[in-house]
Amino acid sequence: MLEKIKQTADYLKTQVADMPKVAIILGSGLGNLTDFMTDKKVIPYSQIPNFPVSTVAGHSGNLIFGKLGEKPVIAMQGRFHYYEGYDMKTVTFPVRVFKALGVETLVVSNAAGGMNKEFKVGDVMIITDQINLFPENPLRGKNFEELGPRFPAMTEPYSRELIAEADRIAAEKGIRVMHGVYVGTTGPTFETPAEYEYFRIIGGDAVGMSTVPEVIVARHGDMKVFGVSVITDLGGKEITDVPSHEEVTKAAENAQPTMLAIVKELVNRI
Ligand code: HPA
Repeated sequence: MLEKIKQTADYLKTQVADMPKVAIILGSGLGNLTDFMTDKKVIPYSQIPNFPVSTVAGHSGNLIFGKLGEKPVIAMQGRFHYYEGYDMKTVTFPVRVFKALGVETLVVSNAAGGMNKEFKVGDVMIITDQINLFPENPLRGKNFEELGPRFPAMTEPYSRELIAEADRIAAEKGIRVMHGVYVGTTGPTFETPAEYEYFRIIGGDAVGMSTVPEVIVARHGDMKVFGVSVITDLGGKEITDVPSHEEVTKAAENAQPTMLAIVKELVNRI
């Protein structure tokens, strides 16, 4: 694994002169954020050694180097989901590569279903914590001390400092933002009414099929993390609306400007 990470990082270093310190993983319906980047260099995953190729409709696979506002960033357009059949090491491989490139801050975004009764479709939720309900942990197996400790603390999965900064930005811009705990599950089924209820009772505010593995690996490597969910559908015992991938993507696209406003300014202040 160490050799593969190095190989991929070495290749990317040959492609980019000014290596960003911030990487952004773009979730479903949020990939167009890269339209707002300048000085772009687009590298399809298929050209990157050891990178898997994304299989889901609506998730294009490109690593995009460029500037968001004034800040150099790496944007990952299309992530690797556990439900696609990738193992956890593959799902989190790009985060290992970011670390090897010198990235210090990881921004993660996703589309998520809301269980919190205060939430509305289109809300932007700053992720304050997470619950790992995947059947495994990406750090299971041999630990490489070069990458991080055997037993990493997860006391502050999402940077309190970045959350506070994002709150200030939202207040300045008059944007309504929610806070909440993200529950990560395998999918690909959306939840039953009882499952949404269960996730709410155990402390979740929103649920999705990604993010948790990447955040675990980022924290293992001592990167700072900021996470944001776009609430694309609501779930619970009394909710009978049927979520679909198309609807989720559309709702995420609609909320994208709000998310972009916060992320762009936050990245500039990092
Ligand atoms: N459940 C799981 N994943 C999701 C959802 C949901 O309701 N919405 C968007 N991603």
